Amino acid sequence: MVKGVCELLWLKRLMGALGFPTQDTIKLYCDNQSAIKIAENSVQYDRTKHIEIDRNFIYEKLEEKIIEVLYVKTTEQLADVLTKAV
Ligand SMILES: *[C@@H]1O[C@H](CO)[C@@H](O)[C@H](O)[C@H]1NC(C)=O
Repeated sequence: MVKGVCELLWLKRLMGALGFPTQDTIKLYCDNQSAIKIAENSVQYDRTKHIEIDRNFIYEKLEEKIIEVLYVKTTEQLADVLTKAV
């Protein structure tokens, strides 16, 4: 999710630089409900784990309404076409 958010922020800046600034909230589709709940800070987890920095980064972008994370079923996750070998 963090890599995806970084890519989205980069694209948002690029679009702005090209003359297409957007204030719209960017939708990030994720097929892992546990990861979504951790990102939204709605579940407890072991805070000593390395994911704390990543979680904070995503949570900050959610709070700023720069991104919103939506659940998508694994079978409908279009990003897999780009990331998983056929
Ligand atoms: C879903 O997210 C949780 C929390 O980050 C992680 O532990 C788990 O491995 C993930 N599941 C899959 C299938 O990627």
